[in-house]
Amino acid sequence: MSNKMWGSRFSSGPDAIMEDINASIDFDKRLYAQDILGSKVHCQMLVATGIISSEDGEKITHGLDTILSEMEAGKFEFSRALEDIHMNVESRLAELVGDAAGRLHTARSRNDQIALDFRLYVRDTALEFENALQDLQLALAQKALEFNDALMPGFTHLQTAQPITFGHHCLAYVEMFGRDCSRMRDARLRMNECPLGAAALAGTSFPIDRHMTAREMKFDHPMANSMDAVASRDFVLELLSASAITAINLSRLAEEIVIWCSAPFKFVKLSDKFSTGSSIMPQKRNPDAAELVRAKVGRIVGALTSLLIVMKGLPLTYSKDMQEDKEQAFDAFDSLGLGLAAMAGMIRDLEPQVDNMEKYAASDFSTATDLADWLVRVADLPFRQAHHVTGQLVALASARNITLDEIPLADMTKVEARISQEIYDVLSAKNSINSRTSYGGTAPDNVKQQALRWLDILQSNKEVP
Ligand code: ARG
Repeated sequence: MSNKMWGSRFSSGPDAIMEDINASIDFDKRLYAQDILGSKVHCQMLVATGIISSEDGEKITHGLDTILSEMEAGKFEFSRALEDIHMNVESRLAELVGDAAGRLHTARSRNDQIALDFRLYVRDTALEFENALQDLQLALAQKALEFNDALMPGFTHLQTAQPITFGHHCLAYVEMFGRDCSRMRDARLRMNECPLGAAALAGTSFPIDRHMTAREMKFDHPMANSMDAVASRDFVLELLSASAITAINLSRLAEEIVIWCSAPFKFVKLSDKFSTGSSIMPQKRNPDAAELVRAKVGRIVGALTSLLIVMKGLPLTYSKDMQEDKEQAFDAFDSLGLGLAAMAGMIRDLEPQVDNMEKYAASDFSTATDLADWLVRVADLPFRQAHHVTGQLVALASARNITLDEIPLADMTKVEARISQEIYDVLSAKNSINSRTSYGGTAPDNVKQQALRWLDILQSNKEVP
């Protein structure tokens, strides 16, 4: 049998393989709420402009409400023969309200319909991500405040570099996730224009009111060009790009949690709620949630790459290629949503192992820069020369297997005569962090102020910067 929605010029139905490659209902049924909303608003507009009668409009609206409740209750029977969500809804509408159903598609095409449905879905998703990112930022800012002065080693090249505080480390991610959040918001605001009414590609001869439908669905305005409206998927690409960047930032924190939990580090303890055991090694506590957050990046970047390639070189306007925009985007968005929630949960429960981190904060000559800075500030050496002197002192301490503050003053002055007893004051990790008072530095007071600044933003309704 040929397709009952469009099959009149066809003498036979599709090959089974044609149906397999063509049907999108298995995944686009997820857009049912958006599809029905768009149809209801379209119907309202058709009535308001006198294109259809209010009796037909009422029947259609009522039928659409029935379909929505059937779908919400899981009682709707989706049919692959009907290809997609649009035709599943329309066909059921015809069963429910008869001929009036046939008037709903006036001045509309599946091309502007899918552009609308997906735009509504992606717009909601962007907002969910903004909220999830802010929740994660909140968890991190709370940890930062609590551990604003907890010493830990800061790394470059994953080699001990300089002492920092755990709070400062947390706030680095608060900043990163703040930018991720603002990218999501930018994308959401930019996509907030309505494609409905573009019809197939050229607009319509019916006297529709696109401003009305745009307004009803809280869009800023209708899209100005009907071809752009049905041909563009950059709104998905943009949220996928923002998602890929977020996922990559998230994966760095996930990786750090994995490292910090490992026995040679023991910097943090993950709660039982976010750890798993091993089926053979009874002592194991594995950071599986962090590992999976780290791994989800693959899918998310994959979805972005995939859609970039689908869209590359597509002539205007709609091509069926564009149906491939949804499955992987759904998967990527689901993965990111889960990853953000898992990370917020892990952070809230995370217990920094303060004593152990403090032990390593002072290891590996982490205050060598403080020593060099002292030579510049107090002994008036040019920084390059101070660097050189400090290097010699590190070599000396390393050869004797002692710390910098264990080098006797007599040995220090042999390397540089201007060194005095005072230098020992700057060699502790505690002193080092306390001295980093430059704006954005790790001094505990700075960290406290920054944590409070973020908490104030995140706990009130203030616009995130
Ligand atoms: N299932 C299609 C999609 O996801 C809907 C639009 C179909 N339009 C068409 N002319 N076949 O892109």
